[in-house]
Amino acid sequence: MYRIEEIQYIRKIMSDKLDPKRYEHTLGVSFTAAALAMAHDYDITDAEMAGLLHDCAKRFPESVLISKCRKHGIYLSEEELKSPAVIHAIYGAYLAEYKYGISDREVINSIRYHTTGRAGMSKLEKIIYLADYIEPTRSSSEILPEVRKLAFTDLDLCMYKILGSTVEYLDSRKTHIAKDTFTAYEYFRELLHK
Ligand SMILES: [Fe+2]
Ligand SMILES: [Fe+2]
Repeated sequence: MYRIEEIQYIRKIMSDKLDPKRYEHTLGVSFTAAALAMAHDYDITDAEMAGLLHDCAKRFPESVLISKCRKHGIYLSEEELKSPAVIHAIYGAYLAEYKYGISDREVINSIRYHTTGRAGMSKLEKIIYLADYIEPTRSSSEILPEVRKLAFTDLDLCMYKILGSTVEYLDSRKTHIAKDTFTAYEYFRELLHK
C-alpha cells in the first residue's frame, strides 16, 4: 500500500528520466494495472507503483545495462544474456529496490518478471505483465481486442493466450525464447488443462 504522495513522487521522477513515448507507455501501464487490480481484488496502489517502475531501466542501452549489472554484482546467466529484453527487467527490479526504496517483494518481482513471465506467477506479476501488453498505446498485436477484455475477467486464461501467441511469434522468427517464457507457457497450459 502506497500513499498518493509516494506515487506522485515516483511519477515525477519517471517523467524526468524517461523519454516522452516511454513515459506515456509507463502511465498507460500504471493506470491499466490499477484498473486490473480493481477487477481482481488487489491493492490498487501496489499495482500503480509497480506499473510506474516496470520500465525504469529501459532507457539504458543493452551494453550499459550489462556493465551496470556487473558493477552491482548482479549475476546474468548465459541464458539471460541471450535474451537482451530480460536485462532491463532484472536491472529495473534492482533499481526499484535500491534506488527507489521499494521493499515490497511482490512489487519487485512483478518488475523482474514483466517481460518473460514465469511458472507460478503471483497475481501482481500477472497484472503487470498483462498491463504492459494491453495498455492503450499498444497497437501491434492481432490478439489485442480479445485479450484487452479477457484480462479483466480471467488472468490465467489471458496469460495463456498471450504467452502462446508470443512463443509462436518468436518461434516463427527463429528468435531465442527465454526459458522463463517457455516454462510460464507450459505452466498455464497445464493449469488450464489445455
Ligand atoms: Fe519492459
Ligand atoms: Fe513496458
